[in-house]
Amino acid sequence: MSNLFIHTTTAILIAASASLSSAQPSDPIKIGLMLPSSGTFADLGKGVADGFKLYVNEQGGKLGGRSVEYIALDDESDPSKANENANKLVKRDKVDVLIGTIHSGVASIMAKVARETNTLLIVPNAGAGEITGSMCAPNVFRSSFSNWQPGYAAGLLAGKKHKTAVTISWKYAAGEESVNGFREGFEKSGGKVLKDLNLPFPSVEFQPLLAQLATIKPDAAYAFVAGAAQVKFVKDYAAAGLKTGIPLYGAFLTEGTLTAQGDAASGLQTTLHYADGLKNPKNDKFIAAYSKAYGAAPNVFGVQGYDAAQMYDIGLKAVKGDTSKKSDIYKAIENAKIESPRGPLSFSKSHNPIQDFYVRVARGNQNMMTETIVQGLADPSPDCKL
Ligand code: BEZ
Repeated sequence: MSNLFIHTTTAILIAASASLSSAQPSDPIKIGLMLPSSGTFADLGKGVADGFKLYVNEQGGKLGGRSVEYIALDDESDPSKANENANKLVKRDKVDVLIGTIHSGVASIMAKVARETNTLLIVPNAGAGEITGSMCAPNVFRSSFSNWQPGYAAGLLAGKKHKTAVTISWKYAAGEESVNGFREGFEKSGGKVLKDLNLPFPSVEFQPLLAQLATIKPDAAYAFVAGAAQVKFVKDYAAAGLKTGIPLYGAFLTEGTLTAQGDAASGLQTTLHYADGLKNPKNDKFIAAYSKAYGAAPNVFGVQGYDAAQMYDIGLKAVKGDTSKKSDIYKAIENAKIESPRGPLSFSKSHNPIQDFYVRVARGNQNMMTETIVQGLADPSPDCKL
């Protein structure tokens, strides 16, 4: 047997075994979309999925040069089902990436599963601090915010005009962390939070809390409730006659729900990393494409989904679609400087977005941008040891 024959045969065997052990770049990339399609966060989940798919469609249905297959699952915003759901996607469906989710408690469990299985996770909303804090990992990223970020921005804003405040929030990670962010920003501006009122997620029994708020009579209030429930909250607040006496601040409180909230929301000020009327070339194109595809203007959830897809595309392009090169994918995303519809987007060491925060005022069905309250805000993430 000639040497040439042996070498050639060995080369063929190596190539064959490599192709058996890893997916061929011609196979579709499997994308696990673990988002709520029922319950109070259903519209938020749809916004994320729509934004993600819009970006993929703009790339001719491909990411990193490979076609994609979606495997979607309704997580119901239920932490008790999160471990099983995430494991189904990773172990049964063998997804290449997990995209999810909206609810902080569910996302924290997804992060645990992602860490255990070294599966790439891009969180397109949930702000749980621990995901890019004590649980941070090379394969875990966020395209959205930490709960601290928009709360902190709202605290800075409210602190410009008011000395005392009361907070109202759902009692789970997102509510608690959002309120902590608000307190930090408010105190930094010289304010004092008099009391934190809360109720369980996803309760909409706001009346007893609004009655307590009216008794305390602070200069201002900050609320974190989200999704469909925020419609009732804002309407209840106005109906209780509190709107003029105790100005209400929020982050998500009016996002995507102004038509349903009507006059009750008019004039409310909120702080987020996206706003109607935000001018930049990427956003102009994004709004036009999103509106054409879905018949409605995008909101922050669509942006977060779109950017999650941009992030994964950057990772995949760096390895020419070879999903086995995991650490190269993570490095590429970590170092990405992304042109987002929200403005410039990059990542801190903990893989949480560094981004600008805007003040928005509710006018008609728009959360119109009035100013940038903090530029390039990064979550301090002191517990992340990467
Ligand atoms: C959260 O659970 O992290 C969350 C949910 C809705 C809006 C914002 C944050």
